[in-house]
Amino acid sequence: MTILLCAPDFFDVRYEINPWMDVENTPQTLKAFSQWRNMIDAIGKAGGIIEHIRPHPDFPDMVFTANAGLIKGKKVVLSNFKYEERQGEQPLFEEWFLKKGYQSILLPDEIHFEGAGDGLFFRDLLFLGHGFRTDKESHKMVAECLGVEYVSLELIDPRFYHLDTCMFISDEQVCFYANAFSPESLSAALSKLTDYVCKENLSIKISAVSESQATNFICNSLAVKGTVITPANNHGSVFSRAHVCDMSEFMKAGGAVKCLTLTL
Ligand code: ARG
Repeated sequence: MTILLCAPDFFDVRYEINPWMDVENTPQTLKAFSQWRNMIDAIGKAGGIIEHIRPHPDFPDMVFTANAGLIKGKKVVLSNFKYEERQGEQPLFEEWFLKKGYQSILLPDEIHFEGAGDGLFFRDLLFLGHGFRTDKESHKMVAECLGVEYVSLELIDPRFYHLDTCMFISDEQVCFYANAFSPESLSAALSKLTDYVCKENLSIKISAVSESQATNFICNSLAVKGTVITPANNHGSVFSRAHVCDMSEFMKAGGAVKCLTLTL
């Protein structure tokens, strides 16, 4: 498992585009670096391999590589960022993907889509979020480009503005914070998931998390070969094998482990 990261050289909170960001409460640079390095160690210990993209001084949120695009095999659908503050990241990520031999796909300019932040795979079933950053109109296009089946989930709580802030998916389990979703879209998605699991004769654990676990970014965890790297020290029994990494400085920008990583 190979993971793309972007070092926090220019990481900061210089604008506010989600409710966690407050320009009066900026991250401590050294602390952010040490948290990011701890996360790298945890990924390495769990057996993950790291790749890097060079950070850019104009883009403090570029550390959140989950928003570069959504990948399947050697295809990537690039993000069309909603906010101007992040739009300049697109050509930087595109250049990196092209250099690495990916086929890069661009959606029409007016259609917003924020990559793996709003797109999570359970095997080849794609869960796509909409409501804050990603437009629902992108879902069918993205799924067709990648040749997969998809389910749309409507996000309704601004604190959970990307799907990966309120849903965690690995091969073994799915957990979610229910109040972040419109009830109809959540129940449709869960029934599609259970159908898929039954049809393929799989066994997975599906569970809901509490509000306090959700606001500790428990869903923003990353599974690396059976170990879940999580920012939530109150994960309780949600994960059977967990490695907790303090991500306080990144949470000031509204992100944690999953947002800082893009599985290639
Ligand atoms: N400050 C960033 C933003 O608002 C955080 C992105 C978090 N990324 C994620 N995949 N949830 O865009």
